Amino acid sequence: MQKMIYLRLIPTLLLFLSIQFLDPIVAQNYRPSKGIEARVNALLAKMTLDEKIGQLTLYTTDWGSTGPTIREGYKNDIRSGACGNLFNCHTIGFVHDLQKVAVEETRMKIPLLFGYDVIHGYKTIFPIPLGEAASWDLEAIEKSARVAAIEATAAGLNWTFAPMVDIGRDPRWGRVMEGAGEDTWLGCRIAEARVHGFQGKKLGDTDAMLACVKHFAGYGAPIGGREYNTVDMSERYFREYYLPTYEAAVKAGAATVMTSFNDYDGVPASGNKYLIDGILRKEWDFQGFVVTDYTSTNEMVNHGVVVDEKEAGELSLNAGVDMDMQGGIYQRFLKQSLKEGKVSTKQINEAVRRVLRLKFELGLFEDPYKFCNADREKKAMLAPEHRAAARDLARKSIVLLKNEQQVLPLKKGQKIALIGPLADNKSELIGNWNGAGNANDCVSLREGFSPAQGSLVVYAKGCDLEVTDRSGFAAALKAAQNADVVVIAVGEGAMMSGEAGARAELGLPGIQEELVLELCKTGKPVVVILMNGRPLAIPKIAENATAILETWWLGTETGNAITDVLYGVHNPSGKLPMTFPRSVGQVPIFYNYKNTGRPYDSNSKWTSKYIDMPNSPQWPFGFGLSYTSFGYSEPKVALKSGGNLLTITVNVTNTGKLPGEEVAQLYVRDLVGSVTRPVKELKGFQKIMLQPGETRELKFILTEKDLSFYRRDMTFGTEPGEYEIMIGGDSETVKKVKVRL
Ligand code: BGC
Repeated sequence: MQKMIYLRLIPTLLLFLSIQFLDPIVAQNYRPSKGIEARVNALLAKMTLDEKIGQLTLYTTDWGSTGPTIREGYKNDIRSGACGNLFNCHTIGFVHDLQKVAVEETRMKIPLLFGYDVIHGYKTIFPIPLGEAASWDLEAIEKSARVAAIEATAAGLNWTFAPMVDIGRDPRWGRVMEGAGEDTWLGCRIAEARVHGFQGKKLGDTDAMLACVKHFAGYGAPIGGREYNTVDMSERYFREYYLPTYEAAVKAGAATVMTSFNDYDGVPASGNKYLIDGILRKEWDFQGFVVTDYTSTNEMVNHGVVVDEKEAGELSLNAGVDMDMQGGIYQRFLKQSLKEGKVSTKQINEAVRRVLRLKFELGLFEDPYKFCNADREKKAMLAPEHRAAARDLARKSIVLLKNEQQVLPLKKGQKIALIGPLADNKSELIGNWNGAGNANDCVSLREGFSPAQGSLVVYAKGCDLEVTDRSGFAAALKAAQNADVVVIAVGEGAMMSGEAGARAELGLPGIQEELVLELCKTGKPVVVILMNGRPLAIPKIAENATAILETWWLGTETGNAITDVLYGVHNPSGKLPMTFPRSVGQVPIFYNYKNTGRPYDSNSKWTSKYIDMPNSPQWPFGFGLSYTSFGYSEPKVALKSGGNLLTITVNVTNTGKLPGEEVAQLYVRDLVGSVTRPVKELKGFQKIMLQPGETRELKFILTEKDLSFYRRDMTFGTEPGEYEIMIGGDSETVKKVKVRL
């Protein structure tokens, strides 16, 4: 037992040892370093048009592409200077080989950028981003991105296609797993943390990579949640909820931005001048480069806004897109477009400048192989402190949704029946977009159990993820009958969410729910471990299970993290970053809805509601239980300087018997505005650890910006009037106080 506790402390110790990962980084837009401009111009002056266009071209290698590979023979393209950047190309042997072609065999010797989707880890896989967001732990999230960058840059990469900051209010859309959930304010903070993590202290360091904010813009709101679908909404709504996360990432210094597949207000993002040249460059003063998403310029032909690919390229360049990902359009048509006067030399030069600046910034001209150090590659991958950080964040990402009969934490010596299609799995648990993650490095839930507290674990799979074969039920039921507690791991496969992973149903796939309900009928306590990439609608399980843990896909350290929580080594503190609906029919569903003229009233038919279901979700945004409990005092508000700043204080008490962490959330409602305002909006949170019986006074400050919105005339600012300030442990259970400004 002593030894057990000691072993379980190791990750925490390693984490403290590795604290040098993070120094405070000052948030600011990317600005080219001194001296770079002269070097860029000198180089540009010597380049031919073809070489310039090559710098605006990005091709995938034939390794792990996410769409149709349009061109092969990329090595020849590098040699001729026709392709200046590659993606899906990593590990230093491979990278070195190709970089050598670029710097030794081309006329201009310009090094290549190597991009990759390093989304939640490179080799050490962290929880999927939606899971990380559930930790509400910005420091741990930044560290996750830092570790990812340390490993990725040790594998030859210098550019990640992350963070993805698309707001997701519709769980049918598969890519909600890649983002930070439904809330704009939380999304902004997480976007900043991720940019800082990837880009490190400064670009040019050997462990810093270019971040790429994606997918600009509005990609998270496709109609019906259907992937690649049209996006259309008022500019007010767009600016209020969807744009701020991209802006936050840009203002945190992100060096590059990726366009999105969707159209917005009738114009595809990759040809949308209003978005790129207007909002991104002019309004936000973005000075990095813009890359398209995978063949998204070509797709503007299908969108029906251009007659052919040549015209698509012109629309993109004129909108402000610098680099063409995989489409080959700039390479094939830009010269002709220039001849015809459809684009100008000035535009091409400017795009090339933006790309070259960042190549200089990274230090590639000084040492094109700076990310190719074999010793570093060997040491970095799955380093013990990386695994420790992954385990730490995996534990923090788990959300306790239900815990009856105090079944959790499990008690020492209890006989456990471990059941379910994901209980003994590894490949699904590293999730979608798992970088260079290897399933064999992942600790399965079953493996996490083996050393755990001397419990006897009997394993029976029960059924597969997506089948109708019930032949495994009998063994699972028998195991349950012989156990004290049933632990069942169910959910989705990694490819059921992520890109092109939209679902029309939000229940558990296959016969998994049936299996859970059969197990519940045995009368044994049933602990359901959910592993999934989106909010699910599982009302029957919510009603019948004894306990439920939302564990998303937790990555390499899954099994250790879950058993840490099951046995109370770690008291769960995660809070949902997205609302969990009761039914897919409630979708889109989010906490910051508007009141309407006929707000919900269960007793009145003629109000804004469904006749067959309450409006309320299964579990609201911000929700998550602990093995202890917390109480909140009435919040107090004090006005400061000129009425612009508010200080809100509240006392939070650990009213239970165990130490635990609580995420105290602050919401604001503007009661009367020149336009309708949401019933509440998150404007702050604090995550605190409290000992049993301990009370802590928390102080929140609200600035004028926190209370600002797009007013009737679309100016951004505040309005005098009455505000409601709410504080609580989730978006529904709050204490309120009013203030007039
Ligand atoms: C995705 C992007 C990704 C790119 C490169 C696209 O299909 O939408 O998010 O970065 O592929 O892999």
